[in-house]
Amino acid sequence: MRAAADRSAGIVAYRILLPLFLLAVLCKPDPDLLLDYCVADTSAAAASLHLNGLPCIDPAAARAEHFATAALSRATSPSATAFGFNVTLTSPAASLPGANAQGLAIARVDLAPGGMAPPHTHPRASEVALVLAAGSGVLVGFADTSYRLYTQLLRAGEAFVFPKGMVHFLYNMDVAAPAVVLSGLNSQSPGAQLVPLSTFRTEPPMPEEILKKAFKINGQDVHRIQRNLGG
Ligand SMILES: *[C@@H]1O[C@H](CO)[C@@H](O)[C@H](O)[C@H]1NC(C)=O
Repeated sequence: MRAAADRSAGIVAYRILLPLFLLAVLCKPDPDLLLDYCVADTSAAAASLHLNGLPCIDPAAARAEHFATAALSRATSPSATAFGFNVTLTSPAASLPGANAQGLAIARVDLAPGGMAPPHTHPRASEVALVLAAGSGVLVGFADTSYRLYTQLLRAGEAFVFPKGMVHFLYNMDVAAPAVVLSGLNSQSPGAQLVPLSTFRTEPPMPEEILKKAFKINGQDVHRIQRNLGG
């Protein structure tokens, strides 16, 4: 009796648990792309390249400066921009070579008085935004996939997390004082897609019928919004 029970326990372990374990270990998701898409280069020249991010320099030639940047120390001018915000994002190619392949980037967001980073997503990164300076506060928020909205008014020194891929915004509530936000992102290529532009300012334009039906508006509304967004 006992031996039979042991045997059947063994069978459960080998026939069921082992395959489940192997499935869990071997079936990892694909690594995340650093780009919106990656059309395969099938030329002979590309066959010898093996990359994840940018190619690397000889490690012996690395210096401390490669891991430092002053790119975020400079205020940018957001006043003349369409929404009143201007972003400086570190880039391994231009401003922070030591961050290559580390899975991170830092962004400085300058918000004009009353300025906003309109609803947008970062398809490849979670973000934590820290308000460095603000007058009456920065209103931030994101919508999850069930369309629940989370908002918070942040004062200087306060931070907020935007989960990966969620539509989110930052709005400088102060009509007189600019605001500065510093964001950490867990991709060196977070990508950004602004909702107003990805609907009303694509190239070529999204068919008018689609916009009319999606937003329950008429053709005049479509053209007005396109004009307002600089189209
Ligand atoms: C963002 O700020 C920089 C530096 O002040 C400026 O050169 C650039 O024109 C600004 N961007 C826009 C879209 O105005």
